[in-house]
Amino acid sequence: MPLVLTELLSSAQTFDDRIATREASVGIVGLGYAGLPLAIAFAEAGFDVTGVDLDEERVQAVEERRSYLVDVPAERYASLDGEVHATADYAAAADLDALTICVPTPLSKTRTPDISHVVSATESVAANLRPGQLVVLQSTTYPGTTEEIVLPILERTGATAGTDFFLGYAPERVDPGNKDFTIRTTPKLVAGVTQECLRRTELLYRQIVDVVVPVSRPMVAETAKLHENTFRAVNIALANELALICDRLGISAWEVIEAAATKPFAFLAHYPGPGLGGDCIPVVPQFLASRVREYGYSPQLIDAAHEINTRMPAYVVQKVTDALNDLGRPVKGSRLLLLGMAYKSDVHDTRESPSLEVMRLLLTRGGDVRYCDPWVQELELDGARHATVEWSAEEVRDADCVVVLTAHRQFLREPLWDEASLIVDARNVVADAPHVHRI
Ligand SMILES: NC(=O)c1ccc[n+]([C@@H]2O[C@H](COP(=O)([O-])OP(=O)(O)OC[C@H]3O[C@@H](n4cnc5c(N)ncnc54)[C@H](O)[C@@H]3O)[C@@H](O)[C@H]2O)c1
Repeated sequence: MPLVLTELLSSAQTFDDRIATREASVGIVGLGYAGLPLAIAFAEAGFDVTGVDLDEERVQAVEERRSYLVDVPAERYASLDGEVHATADYAAAADLDALTICVPTPLSKTRTPDISHVVSATESVAANLRPGQLVVLQSTTYPGTTEEIVLPILERTGATAGTDFFLGYAPERVDPGNKDFTIRTTPKLVAGVTQECLRRTELLYRQIVDVVVPVSRPMVAETAKLHENTFRAVNIALANELALICDRLGISAWEVIEAAATKPFAFLAHYPGPGLGGDCIPVVPQFLASRVREYGYSPQLIDAAHEINTRMPAYVVQKVTDALNDLGRPVKGSRLLLLGMAYKSDVHDTRESPSLEVMRLLLTRGGDVRYCDPWVQELELDGARHATVEWSAEEVRDADCVVVLTAHRQFLREPLWDEASLIVDARNVVADAPHVHRI
């Protein structure tokens, strides 16, 4: 039954008081790269936190204070003011004052947004919704998801947003492995489906983030998040295209970018590479693109960026082929050592990693392919398992070509470049030498 005004005011007071005194219990649905650091941040701020995740292994790891993510080493559990518990049972959600949904939003095979995890998590939250509860969606998603998908599922219970329960959107901006920007120092966008929903969402995040930025409605926050990642994808595509152009001109794209970056205004340096990886930058622009297609708009720049970025692994393979060819060797049968399968340096994450596509293409051409990645002990590609080799002078020496795909710190700290007979460097980390080819 809807709350009357006096009840609403008293519910607001109660919510505010419980936040201020740290009596409020906070829930995080989905304990991955986004959700687990958030759970820890709330616990560091003194809240008792309950994580809900369907993955029993992750639940167990949290309960035993074991680390499974680079941003949450086991030591972080030692300095929490509040408690962190995890469960796979959504019944726990009914006891929470506020909960944030951080479940995955991948792309389907047809490269359209798959929001099935958001839908199923919201349905489970709805089944345990309690009066006065604040629900915040934090997953990255297409414009309209909060108001058109999440809100109706929650209101199907008979409760009304803004009076019986509260619904906000607060996009995730985490950059795993980034030591310069934490949850506290990364400004947080927040939105609500009503003014009171916004007020409560803002209040919640003010407890763990220094700068909270309210916007007028969830669709603005959803689209802002997509624009941030699209900005990066498009600029990386521009740098990649520059690499293709400079290859034809016979000059170094890296030198061109360093030269351009001396301009102190209106230029932001982005660099070429083997392609885009991770579950954000290659994926998120497609959320925007597929949504606007429904409105009859063709997002040409996003599509062009996608095409350029997805062609980069093949370009790296072409560089390897040409470099071997110059020495009179075919790819077939050559021993090829790929450095770095994670999509960026010093993380475990291989989701959408372009290194996988480079590996696939070289295997298809008959290469004798191995990889070295101190962060990725094993991986599966097209049904076959591969394990990392050691970062050793012997492995480097035995390779016909070493391909630098991800510049992990270990490769740079203990460089073995002089041991290699041939190097294709897609990250500009190896000094110029006759045996070094750069993209
Ligand atoms: N990883 C990043 O760097 C990053 C950065 C910004 C935004 N995001 C966004 O954050 C969201 C979460 O991504 P992530 O990287 O943390 O994903 P993840 O795969 O690391 O973790 C998601 C967790 O959710 C759990 N889960 C799935 N369905 C569930 C359900 N119905 N109920 C409970 N738990 C469920 C999974 O078991 C998993 O542990 C996505 O929308 C992603 O786009 C991620």
